[in-house]
Amino acid sequence: ELSPIDKAKFVAAKRATDYVEDGMRVGLGTGSTAAWLVRCLGEMVREEGLKIKGVPTSTRTAELAREVGIEVISLDAARWLDVTIDGADEFDENLNLIKGGGGALLQEKIVATASDQMIVIADVGKEVETLGSFPLPVEVVPYGWQTTQALIEETLVSMDVLGRRTTMRMNGDAPFVTDEGNHILDLHLNRIGDARQLAMVMNQMPGVVENGLFIDICDAVIVGYGDGRVEVRD
Ligand code: A5P
Repeated sequence: ELSPIDKAKFVAAKRATDYVEDGMRVGLGTGSTAAWLVRCLGEMVREEGLKIKGVPTSTRTAELAREVGIEVISLDAARWLDVTIDGADEFDENLNLIKGGGGALLQEKIVATASDQMIVIADVGKEVETLGSFPLPVEVVPYGWQTTQALIEETLVSMDVLGRRTTMRMNGDAPFVTDEGNHILDLHLNRIGDARQLAMVMNQMPGVVENGLFIDICDAVIVGYGDGRVEVRD
């Protein structure tokens, strides 16, 4: 028996399989919700003969996809995708997102942007009026990261945000290392007034590789509830 939160994630993932058809190239997201999707698709491959090629957004997802029987290809082999289905840490009514809680935001954004459609699957707890309660992940190169961090904090002073504390994401005693060999700074902003502007400003800073704001990328959010209900926002 699933907990309400897992049930919510599962029903959203299950509904998202409606967007997947034979012959499609499918971007496979990262995180606990996306893992449900990968398992659902694997079952359809094994039991219903569904024919798809999957492009994973992390080494973790690549492993899981292979394990459940999905053919995995690289993004460059696919070049473009029919659909990407991924989780999110927050979404708002404009379908803008914060992602990267799992540290895979860079590959996730590249893959989602290469897709005709991006579908997000999320439990209703991820829905917010204003983005920013969830710390915004920003991927930075290891070289000079403390200098980059200081620059980010200075820049935040003039931005439409409530907080400006930043923390280095850790893995035990050492900085967390992404699949691309970078680090992640988490920005504790509480409220992001102008997400579009913040996303642009962050990506202009030397040392910043990518940020976890997904603006105008997501086409629909499938929202799951603990009682098994599903709603589609698009
Ligand atoms: C991974 O980097 C993230 O963007 C995930 O998509 C996000 O953290 C959602 O994860 P959960 O589904 O585990 O909440």
